[in-house]
Amino acid sequence: MVGIIGCGNMGRALLGGLLSNYRKERVLVYDKDRSKLSKLKKDSLLRKAKNLEEVVNKSSTIIIAVKPQDIREVLEGIRGFYRNQLIISIAAGITTSFIEKAIGKKTRVIRVMPNLPAKVKRSVTGLSKGRYASLADLKKAKRIFKSIGSCLVLKEKYINPLTAISGSGPGYIFYFLYCLEDSALSLGFSKEEAHFLVFNTFKGAGELISEKDDFLELVEKVASRRGTTEKALLYFKKKNFKRIVKEAIEKANKRAEELSKRITT
Ligand SMILES: NC(=O)c1ccc[n+]([C@@H]2O[C@H](COP(=O)([O-])OP(=O)(O)OC[C@H]3O[C@@H](n4cnc5c(N)ncnc54)[C@H](OP(=O)(O)O)[C@@H]3O)[C@@H](O)[C@H]2O)c1
Repeated sequence: MVGIIGCGNMGRALLGGLLSNYRKERVLVYDKDRSKLSKLKKDSLLRKAKNLEEVVNKSSTIIIAVKPQDIREVLEGIRGFYRNQLIISIAAGITTSFIEKAIGKKTRVIRVMPNLPAKVKRSVTGLSKGRYASLADLKKAKRIFKSIGSCLVLKEKYINPLTAISGSGPGYIFYFLYCLEDSALSLGFSKEEAHFLVFNTFKGAGELISEKDDFLELVEKVASRRGTTEKALLYFKKKNFKRIVKEAIEKANKRAEELSKRITT
C-alpha cells in the first residue's frame, strides 16, 4: 500500500499519477484537513485514512507531501509506528538526515523534488536516496514519480540547485511569458490577442524542442541575419540578460540552502 500524507496541491497531483499506475485499493490518503479529503474524487474504492497512525500502519511506502513547516509534526506522528517502511518526502529543504534523525531508527528515506507541472503529469522530479535507503527503494520511488513526469537521480547536494532550476523554473517561464504579453499590449494588441499570441508561441516553441536539442542552435533557426529576432537578441546580450538569469538562479539556490538550514536546525 502507498500512503500519501497531505493532499494539497502536490499530494493531489501525485494521487492523479499514482492512480494511473496503481490499483485504487492500493493507495491510502490522509490529510489533517478533512475538507481536502472530501474534495477528492467521490470514489468508494479510494481509501481515506482516519489518522496518521492508520496510514503508517497500513502502508509499506509513505509519501510525505505536507509543507516543510509541518513536517516535524508528521515525523513525530510516524515515529511511534515506524516499522522500516519506505519514507518518501517531497518537502522542500528537508534533508534525508533530518528525517532519519527525527524518526530515530535506520529510516529508509528518499528525498524528492518535483515541480508544478506534476498537475499535468509533466513534472521534472529530482530524487536522492538517504543513507539507509537501498537502490531498490530508489527504483520504487522513481516508478512512483514517473507517473507524474520525468525523473533525475542525483546526489543529495544537488537537490537544492535542482530546486533553483526545475523546481522554481516554471515560475521564471511564466514571468517571461507575462513580460512578453505586456510588450504585446504596448504594441497595441488587446489583452485577449496578446495572451493568444504568447500562449500559442510558447506552446509551439515548447513542442518544437526535443531533449537532445541545443538551445542556441534553435535560437539561430529563428534569428536570421540582420532580422527582427536578431535585433531583439542583440539588445538582450547588450543588457547582459544571461548574467541576470545566472545571478537570479544563484539567489534562488542560496535561498534554498537558507531555508534548508532554517527548518532543519
Ligand atoms: N507546490 C509546488 O509547486 C511544489 C513543488 C515541489 C515541492 N513541493 C513541496 O510539496 C509539499 C506540499 O506542497 P503543497 O503546495 O502541496 O502544500 P499544500 O497545498 O499546503 O498541501 C499540504 C497539505 O498537507 C496538510 N497537512 C499539514 N499538516 C499535516 C499533518 N500533520 N498531517 C496530515 N496533513 C497535514 C495541509 O493541511 P492544512 O492546509 O490544514 O495545513 C495541506 O492540506 C511542500 O513541502 C512543498 O515544499 C511543492
